Amino acid sequence: MSAREELDRLRTERERALAAGGPERLKRQHDRGKLAARERLDVLLDPESFVELDRFVEHRSADFGLDDQRIPGDGVVTGYGHIDGRLVFVFSQDFTVFGGSLSEAHAEKICKVVDLAVANGAPIIGLNDSGGARIQEGVASLGGYAELFLRNTLASGVVPQISVILGPCAGGAVYSPAITDFVFMVDGISHMFVTGPNVVKTVTHEEVSFEDLGGARVHGTISGVAHFTRPTELECLRAVRELVSYLPSNNAENPPVAQTEDPVDRADEELLDIIPDEASQPYDMHEVIRRILDDAAFLEVHAGFAGNLLTGFGRLGGRTVGIVANQPAVLAGVLDIESSRKGARFVRFCDAFNIPLVTLEDVPGFLPGVRQEHGGIIVHGAKLLYAYCEATVPKLTVITRKAYGGAYDVMSSKHIRGDLNFAWPTAEIAVMGPKGAVEILYRKELAEADDPEERAAELEAEFREKFAHPYLAARRGYLDDVIDPRETRAQLISGLAMLRNKRDRNPPKKHGNIPL
Ligand code: HXC
Repeated sequence: MSAREELDRLRTERERALAAGGPERLKRQHDRGKLAARERLDVLLDPESFVELDRFVEHRSADFGLDDQRIPGDGVVTGYGHIDGRLVFVFSQDFTVFGGSLSEAHAEKICKVVDLAVANGAPIIGLNDSGGARIQEGVASLGGYAELFLRNTLASGVVPQISVILGPCAGGAVYSPAITDFVFMVDGISHMFVTGPNVVKTVTHEEVSFEDLGGARVHGTISGVAHFTRPTELECLRAVRELVSYLPSNNAENPPVAQTEDPVDRADEELLDIIPDEASQPYDMHEVIRRILDDAAFLEVHAGFAGNLLTGFGRLGGRTVGIVANQPAVLAGVLDIESSRKGARFVRFCDAFNIPLVTLEDVPGFLPGVRQEHGGIIVHGAKLLYAYCEATVPKLTVITRKAYGGAYDVMSSKHIRGDLNFAWPTAEIAVMGPKGAVEILYRKELAEADDPEERAAELEAEFREKFAHPYLAARRGYLDDVIDPRETRAQLISGLAMLRNKRDRNPPKKHGNIPL
């Protein structure tokens, strides 16, 4: 065969590969509202940028009737391509081939692109759609997973790792996505669980559907396993592109700088009146975030989970920042187990990848209660504290209203290496709120008062006058300035520019021991 004929043959084979498992299985995939493995890469990557590797690889199993079923690629498409012109490595499991199950060869292909991603300092994005370990391969398949888990762990903090779940992801297979930095899921299509509904029924006698056990809603709102959920695959893959646009390619780079027409000194009049007169009244911190960031663009991480703390990416003056913000509109913005876990993970990601942290603070403290104490709020709250303490990226804080108790310390305070700590004039910094303080300090006096309620109100007003403002902290230098809320954006951008070459490091050690 001439070289030209051979190339034509290969091209036809490549086209056929869209239906590697045959047209019927492809139709089944489409009928379920799912794209094929290669179609997904077309949406994820810049047009014509995908370069495939290892398309001739086949499985090596001769057992259980697999010897006469060899499909080039062995159920996973691997290679590299571009997102907005930037290099990324990818794998996309093909459910039409042996249910996308992972054989020894399939695992080797994935491990190869993870190794290439680390060696070349580029993100690795995995599109998961798989029945798990290839049953016919037994321990060779289990070993393949372990090889991947090891690589995910070693790559953690070196290159961004993104897992997109676009089908089943069950059993031990879930632990690869769990180790990666971000998990995306799609409503009605993605399912993640360690043991499926049948096993659950046998062991615990609970009857539960795939969706209610491990669907996108469950992991996006209850477990927190999924950082992003989207209604369709297309929206999901576009969201992955958006996330990548904020991130550096590796831990030795700074995030990319975007062009923006949004003036760096844009003042926002609305911020002056956003804090309600009444201290217990909620307001939506999203509003503050959008008014400060470039072009009001905020990519929220964990949007449906632990809504009392907001986390996500935005830009200030074209440069990526990680936002961590108490949300007074949910549980009064209190810190609890879930929000502490959520915040800690996000802070550590930003710190690992040179993304400055901007903390917007309005926190009445940690959530009281038996469930919280028995659930280990001590250790979970400590995660967020530890993450902030260890972070060496630029850390800027704006206290908009309450900064009470231990939560004041935790939320990127000056004492734990906050670089620039600002407060709005509406800030209240105290060991606790006026009501709680008066009840403790004046219990006896109030019990003996003619009109305890009136006396308590007087004492609370006195307390508020004395403590519930930012100036005690500012006089000590715990705050660098009390700023005009309207100028928050300009102040933050100026501060970020000042901190651009910040150098800070932690003492040499093998690794710390974050309270997991
Ligand atoms: C080999 C598999 C397979 C597997 C599915 N297939 N899972 N082949 N190994 N693990 C094949 C099926 O035989 C079928 O082949 C095709 O893929 C599609 O599967 P269906 O069952 O027809 O699809 P569907 O009805 O959509 O169900 C999907 C599914 C189900 C829910 C994933 O297939 C399933 O329960 N599979 C087993 C899941 C599992 O228990 N995996 C092991 C988990 S433990 P044909 O030829 O008919 O198209 C694990 C350990 C990891 O993964 C180790 C880490 C420590």
